[in-house]
Order: sequence, then structure tokens, then C-alpha cells
Amino acid sequence: GHAVVPSSSLIPDDPSVLLTTAGMQQFKKYYTGEADPMKDFNSLNVCSIQKSFRTSDIDEVGDDSHLTFFEMLGNFSFGGYFKEEAIRYAHEFLTSKEWMGLDISYVTIFKGSDMVPKDTESENIWKSLGVADVREEGMGDVFWGPTGASGPCGPTTEIYCTNANGKDVEIWNIVFNEFLCSGSREQLLAGDAALTPLEKKGIDTGMGLERLAMISQNKKNIFETDLFAPVIQAVDSRVAQYNPHYATETMKRMIAD
Ligand code: SER
Repeated sequence: GHAVVPSSSLIPDDPSVLLTTAGMQQFKKYYTGEADPMKDFNSLNVCSIQKSFRTSDIDEVGDDSHLTFFEMLGNFSFGGYFKEEAIRYAHEFLTSKEWMGLDISYVTIFKGSDMVPKDTESENIWKSLGVADVREEGMGDVFWGPTGASGPCGPTTEIYCTNANGKDVEIWNIVFNEFLCSGSREQLLAGDAALTPLEKKGIDTGMGLERLAMISQNKKNIFETDLFAPVIQAVDSRVAQYNPHYATETMKRMIAD
């Protein structure tokens, strides 16, 4: 029942960021009420596959799961549905044999802070779906946003699956956009920004396509998936013409990214 919306450009019309970093970027104005989703999409619920570029993880590129450029699968709701449905949809999509047929190793929920209470609702929803391993995390990990100088933000619940290396990797982040933050994320973390409840609560989810491929193709890292393996092979064959010991695995992965 979601309207399918194309990826927006990597160069956003939002002046608070240089590049598009998340699926929710093009939808910020629907969370804040500045634009009407019914008018633009004829629905309160949309989904997309968004080209995203993140420099926040640039030092991690070359490990098993980080990229600067990636594609983010997401479903979004602007006052349509909230926690119960968002968690249920994610659980069904990942675990149902009809869809991905994967095992969830564990999930995280927001443990609470001075400003925002613990997310016991999400904890109870996960447990009712049979996910027993629900871990608590804080502002740093499971509180999303805002992106740029101000904007919508809120607690999140993250889903982890195990790759072929036996390592748990976050593949999907479900954000409960409940607040408007008056300042940037840095200001929020420093206690220098105010949170006011949004009139309409929203859902913002993001799942990494490359990580989902790693799990579903049972690979040890994203570079062994069908998306990256040919690129790594091409880099290998070039390097072999020179000195095969010159390029480390990490260097080849950086080039592939
Ligand atoms: N905005 C959140 C993220 O990028 C969920 O889509 O992780």
C-alpha cells in the first residue's frame, strides 16, 4: 500500500546538507507538515531506494560492511502508521519465507535519556513477534538525526543479522520521528538544542541494500556479493600486472567503493 517514489538526486534541494545521506532527506518537509503527502503521493505512506553518500563512515570503508556510496531501501509514513506496523512490516519482510527468509540475530531499542523516555513499546512489540534478544542502546546509536542544521528526529530500533563470518551486522534502522530538533545533531548531543513533539508522528526506515545482499547471499562481507565481486576482480587483475603485494585487501575495497 505504499506509493513508490524514485530516488532523489545525490545533490539535495535541502540546503542544510551537501549530499543526500539518507532516504528520509527528500521527505523532510512531509514530517514537519510543510508539505502534504496526500497531495504529492496520494498516500501517507511511501517507499524508495535512495542513492546515499555518507562521509561519516569514511574511515570504516575497507572493513566488511561500510561504504561511502550505498543504496538505502526505505519505507516511510507521515502520520499514517507508527511503531506497531513499522516493526511488524520489517519483521515480516526479513523473516517470512515469502520474502527474505532470514534470521534476525538481535534488535536494539532506545534505553532512554534526560529528554526522551525508554522505548518500552518497541521492546514489547519485538518480544510479541518472538524476537527475544532486545538490547538497549543510547543517544549515540539509536537516536536518529536531525540531518543538517535542524529537523525531525527520534528514537530508533535497529535490526542485526549474522553474516557468513559469524559477525552481527546492522542491516535495517527504523526511526520513530517524534520530535523537531531546534539545532544540529552535535548541538543535541551537547544538550544545546530543544526537542518539541511533532504534530504528526512519522516513520523513517533505512535498510542497506549491499548489507542485505551480503546476508541473503551468505557472504562474509559486502565485497563478495554479486554487486562488488566483479569490481574487486577487475582491481585484482590490474594490480596483478604490477606488484600483487602492493594493494592490500582494504585498499582494493576502497577502490571498489
Ligand atoms: N534515516 C535513518 C538512517 O539513515 C533511517 O532511514 O539510518
